[in-house]
Amino acid sequence: MSDQIRPAAATLPPIAEHPRLTVIGTGYLGATHAVSMAVLGYEVLGVDVDPAKIDALLAGRVPFHEPGLPEKLAEALASGRLHFTTSFDEAARFGDVHFICVGTPQQRNSNAADLRFVDSAVTELARRIDRKALIVGKSTVPIGTAQRLTTLVHEVSPAGADIELAWNPEFLREGWAVEDTLHPDRLVFGVASAWAEAQLRAAFRPILDDGTPLVVVDLATAELVKVAANSFLATKISFINAMAEVCEATGADVNLLASALAYDSRIGGRFLKPGLGFGGGCLPKDIRAFTARAEELGVGNAVQFLREVDGINLRRRTRTVDLVRELAGGTLEGKRIAALGATFKPNSDDIRDAPALDVAHMLHGEGAIVSVYDPAGMENARRVRPDLHYAPSIAAAVMDADVVVLLTEWQQFRDANPRDLGTLVRERKVVDGRHALDADRYRAAGWEYRALGRPTHSRTVELSVDARDAALQSA
Ligand code: UDX
Repeated sequence: MSDQIRPAAATLPPIAEHPRLTVIGTGYLGATHAVSMAVLGYEVLGVDVDPAKIDALLAGRVPFHEPGLPEKLAEALASGRLHFTTSFDEAARFGDVHFICVGTPQQRNSNAADLRFVDSAVTELARRIDRKALIVGKSTVPIGTAQRLTTLVHEVSPAGADIELAWNPEFLREGWAVEDTLHPDRLVFGVASAWAEAQLRAAFRPILDDGTPLVVVDLATAELVKVAANSFLATKISFINAMAEVCEATGADVNLLASALAYDSRIGGRFLKPGLGFGGGCLPKDIRAFTARAEELGVGNAVQFLREVDGINLRRRTRTVDLVRELAGGTLEGKRIAALGATFKPNSDDIRDAPALDVAHMLHGEGAIVSVYDPAGMENARRVRPDLHYAPSIAAAVMDADVVVLLTEWQQFRDANPRDLGTLVRERKVVDGRHALDADRYRAAGWEYRALGRPTHSRTVELSVDARDAALQSA
């Protein structure tokens, strides 16, 4: 919104200069947002329908793995500014600005997003609010959702059109959630009025005062920013993984290729790391939901390429299984495979759409005896894939293995000594699904080392993992 069309502050309805905030939904996004805002000095009430989550947070326990968050939760609780509840009545009474942070998973039988949780959170809240307030969506939603929710809110709330809706997409990465929330690359405010913008500015004052760039847009653009950003990131990953397929057919090395591309400042190295591809609670379902919504809007052709991005990504999983089978001598039946990693990326316990767990499951499906070890994701993995065997340590997982496959690039897997591991396995054969191991060190220790998109044999030109990561600035 340009300054020309912004009415003078004096004509705006009253703005709460230090608004009281509620955060509806206390998962990865909501819990981090609630804690961070309290740390920044706001009075915050976190709300969830799950009493177990609320009890844990009240007791100072973060119910998922997120580095740095437990310390910040303790700090926020000690400040007396952060509280949690299951009561929407309390939330409606308390808040000036209400953030909606509930999940928008993929629908069971379609690519579209399931908006039941968003609809229910907004409805339950709005029907209890009886004064001017701002509801701010942070969840990732299909374009048009904010407009639809505005109508819904005006219908169900006693405050009617006094309640406004805004959209403030969140770009936090798991594992970096606190840092990304307190020091975001940018803030995006999707608003329908100058009052909503002013109220959001008040709600993010310390972050804006820090010099964080702000882009103020309409509601539809705000919704689109999030899915467009995730689509771009997914495309970048699938681009380099498509190049890995070409490398495999030509004897070229995708690691060297990625590093050489990364030094071109127009391309940049971030999200150019080849390997097993993307997973998690966002990228896969967001590109699918975007495709589904674009088709509904009659612009399916414009994002048709995202189907290919998804396809390339899923092929990395089957190709990894192919490599393991190849190393195992052509069949997986009865072979002992050590699967290092279950989560969709390191420093997380999240196994949603995790390529690692998918590969472990496929190996098991071909008759392999799969032993999985992950530093943080064991409990979640066991719940979803109880048929796999879970080992209590790297050493236990690789014991007597015919092939070791690295599926998530946890630091402790990178740090493992190939000579020590070599004394435990039956065969020194390793598939590096994340290009995280030092190929030279493994080969020097007598291992047969294979990675997607890399030549079978040692070469004169070898790039250390550290040098490659420096080029790719991997965060
Ligand atoms: C992502 C977005 O980065 C974030 O902005 C958005 O808000 C939520 O979705 P997250 O799901 O936490 O965040 O994970 P991210 O760090 O982006 O990684 C996604 C997946 O891509 C992981 O499985 C990771 O292993 C993979 N990846 C990432 C690659 O395969 N190569 C890369 O170069 C980067």
